[in-house]
Amino acid sequence: MDKFRITGGKPLRGRVSISGAKNSALPCMAAAILTSERVTLHNIPYVRDIITQRRLLEDIGATVLTPELRTHQISASHIEIFEAPYDLVKTMRASVLALGPLLARFGKAKVSLPGGCAIGTRPIDLHLRGFEQLGAEVKLEAGDVVARAPQDGRLRGAEINFAKATVTGTENLMMAATLATGKTILNNAACEPEIDDLAELLNKMGARVRGAGTSTIEIDGVESLGGAEHTIIPDRIETGTFIVAGAITRGDVEIRDCRPEHSVALIAKLKDVGVQIEELNQSTLRVSGTPKLRARDVTTEPHPGFPTDMQAQYMTLMTQVEGRSAIAETVFENRFMHVSELQRMGARIQIDGHTAIVEGPVRLTGARVLASDLRASASLVLAGLVADGETSIERVYHIDRGYERIEAKMRALGGDIERIRESVTGALSSDLEGDAAMA
Ligand code: EPZ
Repeated sequence: MDKFRITGGKPLRGRVSISGAKNSALPCMAAAILTSERVTLHNIPYVRDIITQRRLLEDIGATVLTPELRTHQISASHIEIFEAPYDLVKTMRASVLALGPLLARFGKAKVSLPGGCAIGTRPIDLHLRGFEQLGAEVKLEAGDVVARAPQDGRLRGAEINFAKATVTGTENLMMAATLATGKTILNNAACEPEIDDLAELLNKMGARVRGAGTSTIEIDGVESLGGAEHTIIPDRIETGTFIVAGAITRGDVEIRDCRPEHSVALIAKLKDVGVQIEELNQSTLRVSGTPKLRARDVTTEPHPGFPTDMQAQYMTLMTQVEGRSAIAETVFENRFMHVSELQRMGARIQIDGHTAIVEGPVRLTGARVLASDLRASASLVLAGLVADGETSIERVYHIDRGYERIEAKMRALGGDIERIRESVTGALSSDLEGDAAMA
Protein backbone atom coordinates (compact mmCIF):
# COMPACT_ATOMS: atom_id res chain seq x y z
CA MET A 1 0.00 0.00 0.00
CA ASP A 2 1.27 3.44 -0.91
CA LYS A 3 2.19 5.94 1.76
CA PHE A 4 3.34 9.56 1.84
CA ARG A 5 6.65 10.73 3.31
CA ILE A 6 6.58 14.43 4.20
CA THR A 7 9.21 16.70 5.73
CA GLY A 8 7.67 19.85 7.12
CA GLY A 9 8.73 23.47 7.32
CA LYS A 10 8.68 24.66 3.72
CA PRO A 11 6.27 27.50 2.82
CA LEU A 12 4.22 26.64 -0.28
CA ARG A 13 4.72 29.10 -3.14
CA GLY A 14 3.52 29.20 -6.72
CA ARG A 15 0.47 28.24 -8.75
CA VAL A 16 -1.84 25.25 -8.52
CA SER A 17 -4.76 24.31 -10.78
CA ILE A 18 -7.89 22.82 -9.28
CA SER A 19 -9.40 19.64 -10.76
CA GLY A 20 -13.05 18.94 -11.47
CA ALA A 21 -15.38 18.21 -8.53
CA LYS A 22 -15.59 14.51 -7.58
CA ASN A 23 -18.97 15.11 -5.92
CA SER A 24 -20.40 16.56 -9.12
CA ALA A 25 -18.75 14.15 -11.56
CA LEU A 26 -20.17 11.09 -9.74
CA PRO A 27 -23.89 12.07 -10.05
CA CYS A 28 -23.34 13.49 -13.55
CA MET A 29 -21.90 10.13 -14.67
CA ALA A 30 -24.91 8.35 -13.11
CA ALA A 31 -27.24 10.73 -14.97
CA ALA A 32 -26.02 9.24 -18.27
CA ILE A 33 -28.03 6.12 -17.38
CA LEU A 34 -31.20 8.21 -17.96
CA THR A 35 -30.71 8.29 -21.76
CA SER A 36 -29.70 5.99 -24.61
CA GLU A 37 -27.82 8.86 -26.25
CA ARG A 38 -24.23 9.88 -25.59
CA VAL A 39 -23.37 12.12 -22.63
CA THR A 40 -19.96 13.83 -22.83
CA LEU A 41 -18.47 15.13 -19.58
CA HIS A 42 -15.37 17.33 -19.45
CA ASN A 43 -13.13 18.26 -16.48
CA ILE A 44 -13.58 14.85 -14.83
CA PRO A 45 -11.02 14.50 -11.98
CA TYR A 46 -8.58 11.59 -12.29
CA VAL A 47 -9.37 10.05 -8.90
CA ARG A 48 -10.19 6.53 -7.70
CA ASP A 49 -13.92 7.09 -7.07
CA ILE A 50 -14.33 8.06 -10.74
CA ILE A 51 -12.66 4.83 -11.80
CA THR A 52 -15.11 2.93 -9.55
CA GLN A 53 -18.10 4.81 -11.04
CA ARG A 54 -16.85 4.06 -14.53
CA ARG A 55 -16.59 0.39 -13.62
CA LEU A 56 -20.17 0.42 -12.33
CA LEU A 57 -21.41 1.93 -15.60
CA GLU A 58 -19.50 -0.62 -17.68
CA ASP A 59 -20.72 -3.48 -15.47
CA ILE A 60 -24.36 -2.59 -16.19
CA GLY A 61 -23.68 -2.44 -19.93
CA ALA A 62 -22.80 1.21 -20.68
CA THR A 63 -19.74 2.16 -22.71
CA VAL A 64 -17.35 4.81 -21.40
CA LEU A 65 -14.83 6.27 -23.84
CA THR A 66 -12.07 8.64 -22.74
CA PRO A 67 -10.78 10.51 -25.77
CA GLU A 68 -8.64 12.32 -23.22
CA LEU A 69 -7.93 11.72 -19.53
CA ARG A 70 -10.50 14.17 -18.20
CA THR A 71 -13.24 13.66 -20.79
CA HIS A 72 -15.70 10.78 -20.52
CA GLN A 73 -18.14 9.91 -23.30
CA ILE A 74 -20.82 7.69 -21.78
CA SER A 75 -23.43 5.74 -23.79
CA ALA A 76 -26.09 3.81 -21.90
CA SER A 77 -27.88 2.55 -25.03
CA HIS A 78 -27.58 -1.16 -24.14
CA ILE A 79 -28.16 -1.53 -20.41
CA GLU A 80 -28.66 -5.21 -19.56
CA ILE A 81 -28.07 -5.28 -15.83
CA PHE A 82 -30.02 -3.11 -13.41
CA GLU A 83 -27.85 -3.62 -10.39
CA ALA A 84 -25.05 -1.97 -8.36
CA PRO A 85 -23.41 -4.94 -6.63
CA TYR A 86 -22.06 -5.16 -3.06
CA ASP A 87 -18.42 -5.31 -4.22
CA LEU A 88 -18.74 -1.83 -5.74
CA VAL A 89 -21.06 -0.22 -3.20
CA LYS A 90 -18.85 -1.28 -0.29
CA THR A 91 -15.93 0.60 -1.88
CA MET A 92 -17.99 3.67 -2.77
CA ARG A 93 -21.34 4.63 -1.21
CA ALA A 94 -22.03 7.02 -4.08
CA SER A 95 -22.85 3.92 -6.16
CA VAL A 96 -26.37 4.40 -4.76
CA LEU A 97 -26.70 7.24 -7.28
CA ALA A 98 -27.43 4.57 -9.91
CA LEU A 99 -30.72 3.74 -8.13
CA GLY A 100 -32.71 6.80 -9.25
CA PRO A 101 -31.72 6.72 -12.95
CA LEU A 102 -32.15 2.91 -13.30
CA LEU A 103 -35.57 3.00 -11.61
CA ALA A 104 -36.73 6.01 -13.64
CA ARG A 105 -35.66 4.71 -17.06
CA PHE A 106 -36.11 0.92 -16.68
CA GLY A 107 -38.68 0.71 -13.86
CA LYS A 108 -36.42 -1.54 -11.79
CA ALA A 109 -33.17 -1.37 -9.87
CA LYS A 110 -31.21 -3.39 -7.34
CA VAL A 111 -28.50 -1.72 -5.29
CA SER A 112 -26.61 -3.18 -2.38
CA LEU A 113 -27.53 -1.26 0.78
CA PRO A 114 -24.41 0.70 1.73
CA GLY A 115 -23.11 -0.07 5.22
CA GLY A 116 -21.76 2.57 7.59
CA CYS A 117 -18.38 4.21 6.99
CA ALA A 118 -15.61 5.82 9.05
CA ILE A 119 -17.52 9.09 9.42
CA GLY A 120 -20.94 7.78 10.38
CA THR A 121 -23.80 5.29 9.91
CA ARG A 122 -24.97 7.22 6.83
CA PRO A 123 -28.37 5.57 6.19
CA ILE A 124 -30.21 6.11 2.85
CA ASP A 125 -33.71 5.96 4.36
CA LEU A 126 -34.56 9.40 2.94
CA HIS A 127 -33.65 8.23 -0.58
CA LEU A 128 -35.83 5.13 -0.25
CA ARG A 129 -38.72 7.01 1.33
CA GLY A 130 -38.61 9.43 -1.61
CA PHE A 131 -38.74 6.63 -4.20
CA GLU A 132 -41.78 5.16 -2.43
CA GLN A 133 -43.46 8.57 -2.68
CA LEU A 134 -42.77 8.50 -6.42
CA GLY A 135 -44.81 5.30 -6.50
CA ALA A 136 -42.02 2.71 -6.36
CA GLU A 137 -42.20 -0.46 -4.33
CA VAL A 138 -38.99 -0.64 -2.32
CA LYS A 139 -37.91 -3.82 -0.53
CA LEU A 140 -34.78 -4.98 1.26
CA GLU A 141 -33.72 -8.47 0.15
CA ALA A 142 -30.57 -10.08 1.50
CA GLY A 143 -28.81 -6.77 1.96
CA ASP A 144 -29.96 -5.37 -1.36
CA VAL A 145 -32.46 -2.61 -2.03
CA VAL A 146 -34.85 -3.88 -4.70
CA ALA A 147 -37.04 -1.17 -6.21
CA ARG A 148 -39.79 -1.50 -8.80
CA ALA A 149 -41.83 1.22 -10.51
CA PRO A 150 -45.64 0.87 -10.79
CA GLN A 151 -47.20 -1.46 -13.43
CA ASP A 152 -46.70 0.91 -16.38
CA GLY A 153 -43.03 1.19 -15.55
CA ARG A 154 -43.12 4.95 -14.88
CA LEU A 155 -42.69 6.75 -11.58
CA ARG A 156 -45.32 9.34 -10.60
CA GLY A 157 -44.49 12.92 -9.64
CA ALA A 158 -45.04 13.80 -5.96
CA GLU A 159 -44.26 16.40 -3.27
CA ILE A 160 -41.40 15.16 -1.10
CA ASN A 161 -40.37 16.80 2.18
CA PHE A 162 -36.88 15.75 3.21
CA ALA A 163 -36.65 15.38 6.99
CA LYS A 164 -32.98 16.34 6.64
CA ALA A 165 -31.08 18.03 3.78
CA THR A 166 -29.30 15.19 2.01
CA VAL A 167 -26.94 15.80 -0.95
CA THR A 168 -27.05 12.44 -2.74
CA GLY A 169 -30.69 12.00 -1.65
CA THR A 170 -31.62 15.21 -3.45
CA GLU A 171 -29.56 14.16 -6.50
CA ASN A 172 -31.11 10.65 -6.64
CA LEU A 173 -34.69 11.92 -6.41
CA MET A 174 -34.07 14.82 -8.79
CA MET A 175 -32.74 12.39 -11.42
CA ALA A 176 -35.63 9.95 -10.88
CA ALA A 177 -38.24 12.70 -11.15
CA THR A 178 -37.01 13.83 -14.60
CA LEU A 179 -38.76 10.82 -16.24
CA ALA A 180 -41.76 10.55 -13.88
CA THR A 181 -45.26 11.49 -14.97
CA GLY A 182 -46.28 14.93 -13.75
CA LYS A 183 -44.60 17.34 -11.34
CA THR A 184 -42.30 16.57 -8.42
CA ILE A 185 -41.45 19.09 -5.69
CA LEU A 186 -38.47 18.48 -3.41
CA ASN A 187 -38.76 20.50 -0.18
CA ASN A 188 -35.83 20.99 2.22
CA ALA A 189 -33.60 19.90 -0.63
CA ALA A 190 -29.83 20.19 -0.23
CA CYS A 191 -28.35 23.31 -1.90
CA GLU A 192 -24.77 22.25 -2.63
CA PRO A 193 -23.24 23.65 -5.88
CA GLU A 194 -22.82 20.07 -7.13
CA ILE A 195 -26.64 19.71 -7.18
CA ASP A 196 -26.90 22.83 -9.32
CA ASP A 197 -24.26 21.44 -11.67
CA LEU A 198 -26.16 18.15 -12.02
CA ALA A 199 -29.40 20.03 -12.74
CA GLU A 200 -27.60 22.02 -15.46
CA LEU A 201 -26.60 18.75 -17.13
CA LEU A 202 -30.12 17.28 -16.77
CA ASN A 203 -31.66 20.36 -18.37
CA LYS A 204 -29.16 20.12 -21.24
CA MET A 205 -30.43 16.51 -21.66
CA GLY A 206 -33.98 17.89 -22.03
CA ALA A 207 -35.18 17.69 -18.43
CA ARG A 208 -37.27 20.42 -16.79
CA VAL A 209 -35.66 21.11 -13.43
CA ARG A 210 -36.08 24.48 -11.67
CA GLY A 211 -34.76 25.79 -8.37
CA ALA A 212 -31.65 23.59 -8.01
CA GLY A 213 -29.25 25.22 -5.55
CA THR A 214 -32.22 26.33 -3.42
CA SER A 215 -34.15 24.31 -0.82
CA THR A 216 -37.16 23.89 -3.13
CA ILE A 217 -36.63 22.08 -6.43
CA GLU A 218 -39.43 21.55 -8.98
CA ILE A 219 -39.21 18.95 -11.74
CA ASP A 220 -41.75 18.45 -14.54
CA GLY A 221 -41.32 14.91 -15.82
CA VAL A 222 -40.72 14.28 -19.54
CA GLU A 223 -41.15 11.17 -21.74
CA SER A 224 -37.43 10.76 -22.46
CA LEU A 225 -34.04 12.48 -22.28
CA GLY A 226 -31.34 13.03 -24.91
CA GLY A 227 -27.57 13.35 -25.02
CA ALA A 228 -25.59 16.39 -23.90
CA GLU A 229 -22.12 17.82 -23.36
CA HIS A 230 -21.16 19.33 -20.02
CA THR A 231 -18.12 20.60 -18.13
CA ILE A 232 -17.94 19.64 -14.45
CA ILE A 233 -17.46 22.51 -11.94
CA PRO A 234 -14.13 22.83 -10.07
CA ASP A 235 -13.74 21.00 -6.76
CA ARG A 236 -14.49 23.47 -3.95
CA ILE A 237 -13.11 21.13 -1.29
CA GLU A 238 -9.81 20.72 -3.12
CA THR A 239 -9.81 24.53 -3.43
CA GLY A 240 -10.38 24.84 0.32
CA THR A 241 -7.63 22.34 1.07
CA PHE A 242 -5.10 24.38 -0.95
CA ILE A 243 -6.24 27.65 0.68
CA VAL A 244 -5.46 26.10 4.07
CA ALA A 245 -2.18 24.67 2.73
CA GLY A 246 -1.05 28.14 1.63
CA ALA A 247 -2.12 29.71 4.95
CA ILE A 248 -0.76 27.06 7.36
CA THR A 249 2.70 27.01 5.70
CA ARG A 250 2.72 30.82 5.72
CA GLY A 251 3.27 30.62 1.96
CA ASP A 252 1.97 32.43 -1.10
CA VAL A 253 -0.19 30.36 -3.42
CA GLU A 254 -2.20 31.25 -6.50
CA ILE A 255 -5.14 28.85 -6.89
CA ARG A 256 -6.37 28.67 -10.47
CA ASP A 257 -9.42 27.16 -12.19
CA CYS A 258 -11.49 27.39 -8.99
CA ARG A 259 -14.89 29.02 -8.27
CA PRO A 260 -14.63 31.29 -5.19
CA GLU A 261 -18.41 31.84 -5.19
CA HIS A 262 -18.84 28.18 -4.17
CA SER A 263 -16.77 28.68 -1.01
CA VAL A 264 -18.21 31.86 0.51
CA ALA A 265 -18.65 30.54 4.08
CA LEU A 266 -15.20 28.94 4.12
CA ILE A 267 -13.42 32.02 2.75
CA ALA A 268 -15.27 34.30 5.20
CA LYS A 269 -14.22 32.11 8.14
CA LEU A 270 -10.58 31.93 7.01
CA LYS A 271 -10.46 35.70 6.53
CA ASP A 272 -11.81 36.04 10.07
CA VAL A 273 -8.93 33.82 11.22
CA GLY A 274 -6.60 36.30 9.51
CA VAL A 275 -5.73 34.47 6.30
CA GLN A 276 -5.10 36.87 3.41
CA ILE A 277 -7.27 35.76 0.51
CA GLU A 278 -7.53 37.81 -2.65
CA GLU A 279 -9.94 37.09 -5.48
CA LEU A 280 -7.79 37.89 -8.53
CA ASN A 281 -10.67 37.04 -10.85
CA GLN A 282 -13.74 34.75 -11.01
CA SER A 283 -11.60 31.63 -11.16
CA THR A 284 -8.39 32.59 -9.34
CA LEU A 285 -7.58 33.14 -5.68
CA ARG A 286 -4.32 34.25 -4.10
CA VAL A 287 -3.63 33.06 -0.56
CA SER A 288 -0.86 34.14 1.74
CA GLY A 289 -0.56 33.18 5.36
CA THR A 290 0.40 35.86 7.85
CA PRO A 291 2.38 35.10 11.03
CA LYS A 292 -0.49 36.14 13.31
CA LEU A 293 -3.49 33.89 12.67
CA ARG A 294 -6.11 33.67 15.42
CA ALA A 295 -8.45 30.93 16.68
CA ARG A 296 -12.08 31.04 15.62
CA ASP A 297 -14.91 28.65 16.51
CA VAL A 298 -16.77 26.96 13.67
CA THR A 299 -19.86 24.80 13.19
CA THR A 300 -20.27 22.61 10.14
CA GLU A 301 -23.60 22.86 8.28
CA PRO A 302 -25.18 21.94 4.97
CA HIS A 303 -24.40 24.43 2.14
CA PRO A 304 -24.27 27.44 2.20
CA GLY A 305 -22.91 26.87 5.73
CA PHE A 306 -19.33 25.82 6.58
CA PRO A 307 -18.64 22.52 4.75
CA THR A 308 -18.15 19.39 6.83
CA ASP A 309 -15.65 18.25 4.15
CA MET A 310 -13.34 21.08 5.31
CA GLN A 311 -13.68 20.41 9.05
CA ALA A 312 -10.56 18.21 9.39
CA GLN A 313 -8.35 20.55 7.36
CA TYR A 314 -9.61 23.54 9.38
CA MET A 315 -8.78 21.66 12.60
CA THR A 316 -5.16 21.22 11.53
CA LEU A 317 -4.97 24.98 10.86
CA MET A 318 -6.41 25.69 14.34
CA THR A 319 -3.53 23.74 15.93
CA GLN A 320 -1.18 26.37 14.44
CA VAL A 321 -2.96 29.56 15.51
CA GLU A 322 -3.10 31.64 18.68
CA GLY A 323 -5.90 30.66 21.08
CA ARG A 324 -8.64 28.11 21.72
CA SER A 325 -11.21 27.13 19.10
CA ALA A 326 -14.35 24.98 19.29
CA ILE A 327 -15.09 22.93 16.17
CA ALA A 328 -18.66 21.56 16.16
CA GLU A 329 -19.45 18.79 13.66
CA THR A 330 -23.23 18.70 13.07
CA VAL A 331 -23.52 16.82 9.75
CA PHE A 332 -21.86 13.49 10.56
CA GLU A 333 -21.88 11.84 13.96
CA ASN A 334 -18.35 10.38 13.87
CA ARG A 335 -16.10 12.71 11.90
CA PHE A 336 -13.21 13.14 14.32
CA MET A 337 -11.10 10.14 13.26
CA HIS A 338 -8.18 12.51 12.46
CA VAL A 339 -8.02 13.79 16.06
CA SER A 340 -6.07 10.89 17.52
CA GLU A 341 -3.56 11.04 14.66
CA LEU A 342 -3.07 14.80 15.11
CA GLN A 343 -2.63 14.19 18.86
CA ARG A 344 0.12 11.69 17.98
CA MET A 345 1.88 14.62 16.27
CA GLY A 346 1.56 16.71 19.43
CA ALA A 347 -1.72 18.57 18.83
CA ARG A 348 -3.72 19.63 21.90
CA ILE A 349 -7.31 18.62 21.10
CA GLN A 350 -10.11 17.55 23.47
CA ILE A 351 -13.32 15.98 22.20
CA ASP A 352 -16.55 16.82 23.99
CA GLY A 353 -19.42 15.06 22.23
CA HIS A 354 -19.72 16.55 18.72
CA THR A 355 -17.29 19.36 19.50
CA ALA A 356 -13.50 19.34 19.42
CA ILE A 357 -11.66 21.95 21.48
CA VAL A 358 -8.29 22.90 19.97
CA GLU A 359 -5.53 24.77 21.83
CA GLY A 360 -2.89 26.52 19.77
CA PRO A 361 -0.31 27.23 18.66
CA VAL A 362 1.68 23.99 19.08
CA ARG A 363 4.82 22.75 17.32
CA LEU A 364 3.76 19.53 15.63
CA THR A 365 6.39 16.82 15.31
CA GLY A 366 6.59 14.32 12.46
CA ALA A 367 5.27 10.79 13.19
CA ARG A 368 3.83 7.67 11.52
CA VAL A 369 0.09 8.26 11.18
CA LEU A 370 -2.84 6.41 9.65
CA ALA A 371 -5.36 7.86 7.18
CA SER A 372 -8.94 6.80 8.03
CA ASP A 373 -11.04 8.62 5.42
CA LEU A 374 -10.68 11.04 2.53
CA ARG A 375 -10.74 14.41 4.33
CA ALA A 376 -8.97 13.15 7.46
CA SER A 377 -6.09 12.16 5.15
CA ALA A 378 -5.92 15.71 3.79
CA SER A 379 -5.70 17.10 7.35
CA LEU A 380 -2.71 14.82 8.02
CA VAL A 381 -0.94 15.97 4.85
CA LEU A 382 -1.37 19.59 6.03
CA ALA A 383 -0.04 18.64 9.48
CA GLY A 384 2.97 16.94 7.90
CA LEU A 385 3.75 20.09 5.86
CA VAL A 386 4.22 22.14 9.06
CA ALA A 387 5.57 19.50 11.47
CA ASP A 388 9.18 19.32 12.61
CA GLY A 389 10.89 16.38 10.97
CA GLU A 390 9.40 13.58 8.93
CA THR A 391 5.80 12.35 8.82
CA SER A 392 4.73 9.08 7.21
CA ILE A 393 1.04 8.75 6.28
CA GLU A 394 -0.17 5.21 5.64
CA ARG A 395 -3.28 4.06 3.72
CA VAL A 396 -3.17 7.02 1.34
CA TYR A 397 -5.58 5.12 -0.89
CA HIS A 398 -8.18 7.09 1.09
CA ILE A 399 -6.83 10.39 -0.28
CA ASP A 400 -6.57 9.03 -3.83
CA ARG A 401 -10.32 8.57 -3.77
CA GLY A 402 -10.92 12.29 -4.04
CA TYR A 403 -7.69 14.23 -4.67
CA GLU A 404 -5.94 14.11 -8.03
CA ARG A 405 -2.22 13.47 -7.29
CA ILE A 406 -2.21 15.82 -4.31
CA GLU A 407 1.43 15.03 -3.51
CA ALA A 408 2.62 16.11 -6.98
CA LYS A 409 0.57 19.32 -6.78
CA MET A 410 1.99 20.09 -3.31
CA ARG A 411 5.53 19.28 -4.51
CA ALA A 412 5.10 21.66 -7.48
CA LEU A 413 4.46 24.34 -4.81
CA GLY A 414 7.71 23.48 -3.02
CA GLY A 415 6.35 21.02 -0.47
CA ASP A 416 8.74 18.24 0.56
CA ILE A 417 6.39 15.31 -0.02
CA GLU A 418 6.65 12.07 -1.95
CA ARG A 419 4.60 8.95 -2.48
CA ILE A 420 6.27 5.73 -1.45
CA ARG A 421 4.86 2.92 -3.56
CA GLU A 422 4.87 -0.54 -2.09
CA SER A 423 4.90 -3.14 -4.85
CA VAL A 424 3.17 -6.49 -4.39
CA THR A 425 6.60 -7.93 -3.54
CA GLY A 426 6.90 -5.33 -0.80
CA ALA A 427 9.63 -3.41 -2.66
CA LEU A 428 9.41 0.35 -1.98
CA SER A 429 9.88 3.04 -4.69
CA SER A 430 9.28 6.78 -4.80
CA ASP A 431 7.17 8.66 -7.34
CA LEU A 432 9.60 11.56 -7.68
CA GLU A 433 9.98 10.54 -11.34
CA GLY A 434 6.18 11.16 -11.86
CA ASP A 435 6.20 14.97 -11.77
CA ALA A 436 6.62 15.47 -15.51
CA ALA A 437 3.28 13.71 -16.12
CA MET A 438 1.48 16.50 -14.21
CA ALA A 439 2.36 19.22 -16.67
C1 EPZ B 1 -22.38 13.98 0.29
O1 EPZ B 1 -22.57 12.75 1.00
C2 EPZ B 1 -20.90 14.00 -0.12
N1 EPZ B 1 -20.62 12.85 -0.96
C3 EPZ B 1 -20.03 13.96 1.14
O2 EPZ B 1 -18.67 14.10 0.72
C4 EPZ B 1 -20.37 15.14 2.02
O3 EPZ B 1 -19.65 15.04 3.23
C5 EPZ B 1 -21.87 15.14 2.34
O4 EPZ B 1 -22.64 15.12 1.13
C6 EPZ B 1 -22.29 16.37 3.13
O5 EPZ B 1 -21.92 17.52 2.47
C7 EPZ B 1 -20.97 12.92 -2.28
O6 EPZ B 1 -21.50 13.89 -2.79
C8 EPZ B 1 -20.63 11.72 -3.11
P1 EPZ B 1 -25.85 13.57 3.05
P2 EPZ B 1 -24.06 12.23 1.33
O7 EPZ B 1 -26.86 12.60 2.54
O8 EPZ B 1 -24.99 12.65 0.24
C9 EPZ B 1 -27.96 11.87 6.98
C10 EPZ B 1 -16.37 13.62 0.65
O9 EPZ B 1 -15.52 13.78 1.54
N2 EPZ B 1 -28.84 11.09 6.07
O10 EPZ B 1 -26.02 14.99 2.67
O11 EPZ B 1 -23.95 10.80 1.65
C11 EPZ B 1 -26.50 11.43 6.91
O12 EPZ B 1 -26.25 10.31 7.70
C12 EPZ B 1 -17.74 13.04 1.02
O13 EPZ B 1 -16.21 13.94 -0.54
C13 EPZ B 1 -29.85 10.32 6.60
O14 EPZ B 1 -30.03 10.26 7.82
O15 EPZ B 1 -24.39 13.07 2.64
C14 EPZ B 1 -25.77 12.68 7.38
O16 EPZ B 1 -25.76 12.72 8.76
C15 EPZ B 1 -17.79 12.50 2.40
N3 EPZ B 1 -30.64 9.60 5.75
C16 EPZ B 1 -26.64 13.80 6.81
O17 EPZ B 1 -27.93 13.23 6.54
C17 EPZ B 1 -30.47 9.65 4.38
O18 EPZ B 1 -31.20 8.98 3.64
C18 EPZ B 1 -26.12 14.43 5.52
O19 EPZ B 1 -25.77 13.41 4.64
C19 EPZ B 1 -29.44 10.44 3.86
C20 EPZ B 1 -28.63 11.15 4.73
